[in-house]
Amino acid sequence: MAVTLTPLEVMSDAPVIPVIVLTELAQAVPLARAMVAGGIRMLEVTLRTPVALACIEAIARDVPEAVVGAGTIRSAADAQAAAMAGARFGVSPGYTGAIGKACHDLGLPLLPGVATAGEIMAAQEDGYTALKFFPAVQAGGLAMLKAWQGPFGDVKFCPTGGITGGNAGEFLRLPNVVCVGGSWLTPRETLARGEWAHITQIAQQAAGLKRHSL
Ligand code: 3PG
Repeated sequence: MAVTLTPLEVMSDAPVIPVIVLTELAQAVPLARAMVAGGIRMLEVTLRTPVALACIEAIARDVPEAVVGAGTIRSAADAQAAAMAGARFGVSPGYTGAIGKACHDLGLPLLPGVATAGEIMAAQEDGYTALKFFPAVQAGGLAMLKAWQGPFGDVKFCPTGGITGGNAGEFLRLPNVVCVGGSWLTPRETLARGEWAHITQIAQQAAGLKRHSL
């Protein structure tokens, strides 16, 4: 039986959580192995494609070194399906009390998405203090995270949305940022061509990024 992680443990494992969109089941296991080889174990597979749950199941079964999570959780039913497939954490684009409760009841660590002070407060009220800031660049980026350090000094963030290898370092230098999320680790053409060694290279660069908080 796999150990249940806290949301902060999910965020702390590596400087980057890859946001992964898989269109082919056959890509799941080699991709996960390539990420792990590059030093990235926490993998967010988005529930955005028909094969997403099957991909989560395959990674959970065949790549024990990885910790597979489900992204794009938008309902309690999504959380339930993700947990049944073997997801060990969940990530949502926004926060609702129903999702918070479902994940709590399932024992599924959740990184809830927030973009405003009110959403942070709602998530905090339900016990969530390690949050995804989404969409980070579009919703205020570095300046917003700096502004939140005052009233929300006890909250840690994983900014996601608009983060790239080029700007990740600036975000990771902030004391309230533990990791960032992004899709730049999994370029669509690289996945389509099965260039797993290239994925490992990108993962290695991401795993080597410096961060303030650790
Ligand atoms: C998403 O859910 O699509 C993530 O926020 C990824 O955003 P990105 O493609 O800008 O990294």
